[in-house]
Amino acid sequence: MRITINKLLEMKQAGEKIAMLTAYDYSTAKIVDEAGVPLILVGDTLGMVVLGYETTLSVTMEDMLCHIKAVVRGTRQCMVIGDMPFMSYHVSVSEALHNAGRFMQEAGCQAVKLEGGVTVAETVRRIVECGIPVMGHIGLTPQSIYQLSGHRVQGKTPEAASRLLNDALALEQAGAFAVVLELVPAELAGLISKRLKVPTIGIGAGPYCDGQVQVINDMLGLYTDFVPKHARQYAKLAADIKYAVDTYFEEVKSVQFPGPEHGSSIDESLLEGL
Ligand code: KIV
Repeated sequence: MRITINKLLEMKQAGEKIAMLTAYDYSTAKIVDEAGVPLILVGDTLGMVVLGYETTLSVTMEDMLCHIKAVVRGTRQCMVIGDMPFMSYHVSVSEALHNAGRFMQEAGCQAVKLEGGVTVAETVRRIVECGIPVMGHIGLTPQSIYQLSGHRVQGKTPEAASRLLNDALALEQAGAFAVVLELVPAELAGLISKRLKVPTIGIGAGPYCDGQVQVINDMLGLYTDFVPKHARQYAKLAADIKYAVDTYFEEVKSVQFPGPEHGSSIDESLLEGL
């Protein structure tokens, strides 16, 4: 049985911190799931860290469906949350319902995430009414990166802080089971976390959130275009991969690879008649 919304609420009530990581493929998702991480987000950061786009805006429904399916196949215990891409839930509520339904029905995830507060609350309510769990996402919302003039901390003035609190409350009232707070000052994230009954999951939002999320390519040191301030690198996989590739390349050229153990052989006399 995969982790449930009720279990997440119990964790919040017990003060047990909730870890979430992104994953985009079968093998990585399997490792994260087997480690016991309760939440995997197939984030639209896929566009940047896997597909090489400059922003998340180019990611399509088809991209997301393909990667969510792979992650679902690699997991047994965690809740897999599919990130709804730019413009897949903005045009109309019925299109949002249709696309959220495709994530659940075709890709097999257990919840969807979408960005925005008060302005998407009605859409969230309608998706939840269809029985689809929704995770909210406020603060720095990367799908609005141009509107927000870049990756900036949000909620720094009393007015902006009050707007963020209202956004969080609107999402909770609409039925969201959790809310991501991205690039929000720690004290404000703490206040929002206290005011909500549902868990908050922070990224660049300090230690007072109910949980934390990181982009796995950042925390593994695999995405080297830039290292966000909020990321801690637990490994340096880009350097490890470079070393492995260099070594392989050298060994192929010097015929140190493959060795006898990597293939099969027959008695050469069997080839004499050829
Ligand atoms: O797309 C993503 O990976 C996200 C996280 C950064 C929360 O939305």
